Amino acid sequence: MIDALKIDLGDTMNRTAAGRFAIRCIGIFLFTTLAGQPLAVETAFAQQTYPPGALGDVVRLGETLVNETNEHPLTKPFVGNSLKCTSCHLDAGRHEKAGSFIGVAAAYPAYSPREHSVITLEDRILNCFIRSQNGTRPTNGSKVPVAIAAYITWLSQGTPLRMNPAKPLGPKHMAILQSPPAAPSVKRGELLYQERCSSCHANDGIGTDDGPPVWGDLSFNDGAGLAGVPKMASWLKVAMPLDDTDLSDQEAFDIAAYVNSHTRPKFVAKPNP
Ligand code: HEC
Ligand code: HEC
Repeated sequence: MIDALKIDLGDTMNRTAAGRFAIRCIGIFLFTTLAGQPLAVETAFAQQTYPPGALGDVVRLGETLVNETNEHPLTKPFVGNSLKCTSCHLDAGRHEKAGSFIGVAAAYPAYSPREHSVITLEDRILNCFIRSQNGTRPTNGSKVPVAIAAYITWLSQGTPLRMNPAKPLGPKHMAILQSPPAAPSVKRGELLYQERCSSCHANDGIGTDDGPPVWGDLSFNDGAGLAGVPKMASWLKVAMPLDDTDLSDQEAFDIAAYVNSHTRPKFVAKPNP
């Protein structure tokens, strides 16, 4: 049924994150109503309303920034590539597996081994600006991190508070795949990339209208999570090819090795402002 809907609603809608999310919600909605049951817990989230008043405005602003990070006047000055938060946190973080923001706020403050300190949700958001967004850090407490933290906290309502003493990660964080049977092969990865990825991300990795850059100057920098092969493989496994996630562990590792064999911007550590 969901497949039929996709065809009806057409390709254009299917291409946008909001479109895909809407399709998923309609699918779940039809499924649950046709099955004659009250709308299940699964839909509770999709139907959650924004808080009233100024708080709702800020939550919505946060959602907009997650969807338009490299274009919005508030975030653009802090971004050094063509990516948006939603490029990796699919469906603006509503995706259950690919960089889910659902429940994340309940894990903070959390211990960060990378920083050897306890960090807040805002700090975690700002870290994605300097690494995954290859940019600079907006000031802690300024409009951008407050709005994005408000949005993520709204997505986390109802999740039991459980601060993470080991890693700055929420309850739905990605499972890191075990190493595959054969060592990752850049050569096999190249062929798979051409078959499964290049139609949207281009043969030279610089992206197309249908997918953002995956390497080169406008991609995430080498200090980002996805710059590591196991993390990239684990993310690909649940996220790509978009709407058709069927890679085997071996394929995910081979493609990750190929993608990350290319050059990307260098992460330069700067002191926090
Ligand atoms: C290039 C990909 C990429 C981009 C772009 C990106 N992130 Fe991330 N982010 C990741 C990955 C990978 C993780 C680790 C996720 C995991 O392990 O489940 C992560 C983790 C996070 C976390 C911690 C999640 C948790 O479970 O505690 C937050 C919060 C976050 N990112 C916010 C953002 C925000 C806000 C933006 C936009 C300003 C952004 N990210 C842009 C890849 C990205
Ligand atoms: C149908 C088009 C399509 C295909 C095929 C596809 N992607 Fe993507 N990919 C996207 C889109 C679109 C995004 C951004 C997500 C969003 O905006 O919802 C993305 C995001 C990404 C990202 C994170 C952001 C970035 O650019 O670094 C990586 C990495 C990635 N894709 C790699 C791959 C790999 C590897 C394959 C092949 C296994 C693949 N993709 C296949 C469309 C596609």
